[in-house]
Amino acid sequence: MRKARIAVLVSGGGTNLQALMDSERAGVISAGEIKLVISDNRDAYAIQRAKNYNIETEVLLRKDFPSREDHEKALVGTLKDYDIDLIVLAGFMSILSPYFIDSFRDRIINIHPSLIPSFCGKGFYGLKVHEAALSYGVKVTGATVHYVNEIPDGGKIIIQKAVEVKDGDTPEILQRRVMEEAEWKILPKACQMVCQKILEEEANAE
Ligand code: GRF
Repeated sequence: MRKARIAVLVSGGGTNLQALMDSERAGVISAGEIKLVISDNRDAYAIQRAKNYNIETEVLLRKDFPSREDHEKALVGTLKDYDIDLIVLAGFMSILSPYFIDSFRDRIINIHPSLIPSFCGKGFYGLKVHEAALSYGVKVTGATVHYVNEIPDGGKIIIQKAVEVKDGDTPEILQRRVMEEAEWKILPKACQMVCQKILEEEANAE
């Protein structure tokens, strides 16, 4: 049976990519296969993780293109060359323009380390999200997988999972707990759900 072809876009350590690759191997993602990993950072450890799994990698640096538009055209071109059905943003730091989003409408998902609509949108990335959650004093935070549209962190929510905030948490400790208890679990699940949906839609269209 055909599987949906997945590309994962990364910029950093790639622990979410790791969770996706492990889940594919374990059969949790059975409706899709990771065909490509694209990084906008040459030093991203995520690239090594992909190579360890024999997954094709492409590095497309913003500085190698005259404009952001040209960089995105190259990204879109590469994704089309690989016949990608689903794009997973897993710690990808470049903000995508409407041109990119429109090229893959309803085919891009993102993981965000809070319960959207809290602590999300412009400026909320990395440790900043957890710093904001701690300074607000919330007792529960979590992670969200959502579709990507023109509004940062504003697309339709696919899965959320709550995580307890504990006394004495630092942003780093909370970040790790959110990853372990939420991100690494819901991203593979969401991926499987969306891949199944893509294949169902395809079957219905035939
Ligand atoms: C994660 O916290 C994810 O939610 C956010 O960026 C981080 C990426 O971490 N979008 P990693 O590269 O997957 O380890």
